[in-house]
Amino acid sequence: MRAVQDAPQIARMEAGDVEEVASLEAAVSPAPWSVGVFRDCLSAHYECWVFRLDEIVGYVIVSLGPDEAHLLNIAVAPNRQRRGFGRQLLAKGVMIARQAGVERVFLEVRPSNLRARAIYEKAGFEFLSLRKKYYGPPRKEDALVYALTL
Ligand SMILES: CC(C)(COP(=O)(O)OP(=O)(O)OC[C@H]1O[C@@H](n2cnc3c(N)ncnc32)[C@H](O)[C@@H]1OP(=O)(O)O)[C@@H](O)C(=O)NCCC(=O)NCCS
Repeated sequence: MRAVQDAPQIARMEAGDVEEVASLEAAVSPAPWSVGVFRDCLSAHYECWVFRLDEIVGYVIVSLGPDEAHLLNIAVAPNRQRRGFGRQLLAKGVMIARQAGVERVFLEVRPSNLRARAIYEKAGFEFLSLRKKYYGPPRKEDALVYALTL
């Protein structure tokens, strides 16, 4: 089996991908990031990666600090979910953090997002704390903070 880190379909997000990524985001997120937010992530040199088949089927965005990384966004198109793409994108994000030498990867997730929680927990992330009223309208919710120690 091909190692996750060798997946040739995972490539750096380019400026020309941003519209397609934002429309995927609009299809999966209750509070979708705009095109501008994805552009800002590229400008800030966050680690932005897409999973590309005939079209972009998913993406992951990670910010790297000196000691810790933050998984800011991950998504797979609704009609491409449950085929392992999310798991591979998550593995890519974690691998980037590991290669950068950080000690921990953090992320926030809605308690109601059982799918995302399942892939995080399978990847070894553990619940760290609850962040009250983290998510704003239109679906106000607390956030679960998860961490993975590398
Ligand atoms: C979370 C998300 C990225 C997962 O992507 P995916 O490609 O469907 O995930 P995978 O196919 O790699 O699934 C890996 C594991 O997750 C779990 N999982 C995935 N979909 C699931 C579902 N519908 N129900 C229960 N568990 C599920 C399973 O444990 C699965 O393992 P399995 O294949 O052995 O059953 C995707 O559901 C998504 O884009 N959701 C909307 C955006 C979002 O919520 N992002 C996270 C914000 S914190």
